[in-house]
Amino acid sequence: MVKLGHNYFAEGDFVTLIPLFKTKRETRFVIRLEKGQVFHSKFGVINHDEIIGRVHGSIVKSHLNYNFVVLPATLHEVIQNYKHFKYITQIIYPRDWGFISVFADIKEGDKIIEIGTGTGAFLSYLSRLVGSSGFIYSYEKDEERAKIANRNLRELGLTGRCLIKVRDVVKEGIDERNVDVVFIDIPEPWLVVKRAWCALKPGGRMIVYIPTFNQLKKTVIELMRHGFIDIKIKEGFLRNIQVKPYAIRPELKGYYFSAFIIFARKSFVIPVTYLEDLFKLEYLGEKN
Ligand SMILES: C[S@@+](CC[C@H](N)C(=O)[O-])C[C@H]1O[C@@H](n2cnc3c(N)ncnc32)[C@H](O)[C@@H]1O
Repeated sequence: MVKLGHNYFAEGDFVTLIPLFKTKRETRFVIRLEKGQVFHSKFGVINHDEIIGRVHGSIVKSHLNYNFVVLPATLHEVIQNYKHFKYITQIIYPRDWGFISVFADIKEGDKIIEIGTGTGAFLSYLSRLVGSSGFIYSYEKDEERAKIANRNLRELGLTGRCLIKVRDVVKEGIDERNVDVVFIDIPEPWLVVKRAWCALKPGGRMIVYIPTFNQLKKTVIELMRHGFIDIKIKEGFLRNIQVKPYAIRPELKGYYFSAFIIFARKSFVIPVTYLEDLFKLEYLGEKN
């Protein structure tokens, strides 16, 4: 009788299967273990029952004799490789998750507003990060997207820590007040800066995820106008290094730009320098 502990796979676990043979491109499969189920791929069939009860890091063989090592799946592996996590929008990729949470100091217990639920990818990460004492109210104007995001969160067992509200925030606003963080990922963030300011507690952290300079400029001006201070714009870089003993060097193919990220804090003081900047913008006719 196998004694189940946290080092052994159990029913309901997400696991990653990594080939122990050469594949054309990097391949990994994420499955959720269910008694009696089978996993099919072009490399053959594996019974879930062969994994349940085995120690983490075990090796399993498909019926076509391909070997895989089995590891507990990480959240980013699940979001990128689990077939029941459906993409319906562009998502915030794991490369930016940590970057955002460090500079915005997002942590256990935080109350967060997210504007633009989309697929629910970043919401999944946030839900895990804030723990059982935190909460995220996520706003999505498209009912169908909200439904799919809800299903995605349910698949990951993270629904108890967030609520997706179907609402256009530009038109109808935000219900909550005194929250720690507002995170915005919509195409016209400058239209909701005022709403975000009202929802935040004094000193609260504001983050805007935004892909173009055009959107960046409009948003920064709006943040200044509302007295946000400590405005910083950052971009995260991630470079994968190929792991081949004869040539350990950066991978030649890569994806290098995701978005700019604005960080700011709510203040009741409008610094004079900002008023001057605004005056100059007005004077130079660069308002838009
Ligand atoms: C790029 S997606 C967000 C992706 C999400 N951050 C993720 O990681 O999965 C942007 C979403 O914002 C929603 N949206 C756009 N404008 C909105 C508004 N005014 N109020 C609420 N949701 C809005 C869109 O319908 C879309 O689903």
